[in-house]
Amino acid sequence: MADEHPIAADADAPAILVEQAHYTYANGNVVALSGVDLRVEKGEIIGIIGQNGSGKTTLTKLFNGLLKPSSGSVVINGVNTATQSVQQMAQHIGYVFQNPNHQLFARTVDDELRFGPRNIGMSEDEIDQRVAEAVEFFGLRNVIDEHPYRVSFPIRKLVGIASIVTMRPSIIIFDEPSTGQDHDTTKVINNLMTGLREQGTTVVCVSHDMPLLADVVERVIVMKDTKIIADASPRDVFADAALMQRTNLMAPQVTEIALQTTVPLGGAIALTPAELADDIANRLKPRAKTGS
Ligand SMILES: Nc1ncnc2c1ncn2[C@@H]1O[C@H](COP(=O)(O)OP(=O)(O)OP(=O)(O)O)[C@@H](O)[C@H]1O
Ligand SMILES: [Mg+2]
Repeated sequence: MADEHPIAADADAPAILVEQAHYTYANGNVVALSGVDLRVEKGEIIGIIGQNGSGKTTLTKLFNGLLKPSSGSVVINGVNTATQSVQQMAQHIGYVFQNPNHQLFARTVDDELRFGPRNIGMSEDEIDQRVAEAVEFFGLRNVIDEHPYRVSFPIRKLVGIASIVTMRPSIIIFDEPSTGQDHDTTKVINNLMTGLREQGTTVVCVSHDMPLLADVVERVIVMKDTKIIADASPRDVFADAALMQRTNLMAPQVTEIALQTTVPLGGAIALTPAELADDIANRLKPRAKTGS
């Protein structure tokens, strides 16, 4: 709405600054977050992992103002969410829901893709261009006139992602983007993450998909029982068997194999198949002869 101008972003502020955030759902009086601190700089790509019910979705809903902290503060691009509507926050931050059925409501895929950009006041020419790009990138040409609920779940999920990407927010939150995806749509999501990194978009990706995170994020936040209990590189998090066990999570299989079978070269535990293959190849190389 024209009179709902957001407070301008602060160029020097971090993308996300959460200080001592607590959140209790009134419904059932469930404590979902207790004393969470988190700072994410602009352009960072981070993953959030943790067992079911640990608070990941609640935390990310604080980022875009869908939920306001019961106490503590959440400041996005220098703007405190407490003073803003969800619509105002949409100028700063895009939120892709865990379940697309909670996000999509238009009558056609085309309308769905246009809704967000229109809502933030983009010109119709620019909307046409953004939608055309998204249709191409996400492979949605054949479903553009379909009802979003009539397309397959993996495609519906891509529509949910595409409808946020068309707004080009400087921060994008993905809640479980690869859940329920097939091989082709997983590839699209990987390409999307790589593209967002190149554009300097700040990305927060909640996921149980450890190989996806090993591939795309630089930093992993680990949640357990309403709190952040670790914050480190994916290599350090996934190689920490005690931490993974404590949170009931599985490291990528590649990392499990590396931990169990190889003494990693240079202290680096393999995260991706390519790294493990290199490690094994190096080990199989005949040793250079030293003298005769
Ligand atoms: N609308 C709600 N009303 C009451 N309690 C809720 C609500 N949504 C979530 N909770 C509770 O808050 C806690 C945190 O839930 P949240 O959805 O943030 O976890 P999560 O880490 O995203 O889990 P998952 O991996 O299953 O998606 C859980 O105990 C959950 O049952
Ligand atoms: Mg969740």
